[in-house]
Amino acid sequence: MADSSITVAVTGGSGKVGGQVAHRLAGRGVVQRIVAPRPERAPRLPGAEVAGASYADRHAMQRALDGVDTLFLVSGREASDRVRQHANAVDAAVAAGVERIVYLSFVGAGPKATFTFARDHWHTEEYIRARGVRFTFVRDNMYQAMLPGFVGKDGCLRAPAGTGAVAAVAHDDVADAVTSVLLDEAHQAESYELTGPEALTFAQIAKHLSEVTGRPIQYHPETLEEAYLSRSTYDAHDWEVAGWVTSFQAIATGELAEVTDTVRVLTGHPPMDFRDYLGRCPQTYQHLV
Ligand SMILES: NC(=O)c1ccc[n+]([C@@H]2O[C@H](COP(=O)([O-])OP(=O)(O)OC[C@H]3O[C@@H](n4cnc5c(N)ncnc54)[C@H](OP(=O)(O)O)[C@@H]3O)[C@@H](O)[C@H]2O)c1
Repeated sequence: MADSSITVAVTGGSGKVGGQVAHRLAGRGVVQRIVAPRPERAPRLPGAEVAGASYADRHAMQRALDGVDTLFLVSGREASDRVRQHANAVDAAVAAGVERIVYLSFVGAGPKATFTFARDHWHTEEYIRARGVRFTFVRDNMYQAMLPGFVGKDGCLRAPAGTGAVAAVAHDDVADAVTSVLLDEAHQAESYELTGPEALTFAQIAKHLSEVTGRPIQYHPETLEEAYLSRSTYDAHDWEVAGWVTSFQAIATGELAEVTDTVRVLTGHPPMDFRDYLGRCPQTYQHLV
């Protein structure tokens, strides 16, 4: 029997952002429903129910959102039909009576964004706007957690990012900002771009990683041709490879370089910088040690 006092649902509950938001809400005494495609992987928290649903399954999503007022919609795993899946989730929310959607988008979301996945986010945002629900878009920059993973075992960070910089943000700061938005009705129709406190070039990122790992890590700026060629051996679809490569291209063009004050404004604390992040999360670079 569903708990009738539940007003907030958090999707992506088995993942990093969704899981961290769910923990924060539970810590604030919020009664919530945590939604995940594999519910057994979702955290068990005080005041929280868990529901299993994938965005691909509109009916399961609608059941999972029954009685919910505010939905935190975490963007799903990249897929060729990702926008369709997001639209499904939005339709399910509207049918279930959800009044407000807080969508986790990406900085610079736009129809012509260099980063092809940022176009998916824009189409999802447009879909939400058109459905007439109240909404807030929380657009995060690249996660700091991603950066060590770009370095190969040989200590070389190969990417077509040129001399561009990225204002990467920590998951913790994203979760704090989202929680703040969810707990306050005052963010109607806002788009918030969340970044770290600095924009780092890949040469600077390599330097930080050299310092913490104690081994030389070099940045090799790939050409686009090299980038596509070096990733052609992965067992991946063309759209997926294009997503990876264009994420670096967007850094080269400067589209991910803007530093915002939004984390501080929404949370009351400054965003974590990359050096601090590495100090707190050494597991993210263990493959390099
Ligand atoms: N800003 C960035 O650098 C960046 C990088 C990568 C991805 N992203 C996007 O940001 C989102 C959140 O990041 P994160 O680090 O929290 O990711 P994460 O740890 O991989 O968590 C993603 C969550 O979304 C769920 N999910 C994935 N596809 C779904 C679908 N089709 N229907 C319903 N639920 C689905 C996952 O369920 P399972 O546990 O069952 O998989 C998981 O709970 C990602 O899902 C992705 O869209 C952003």
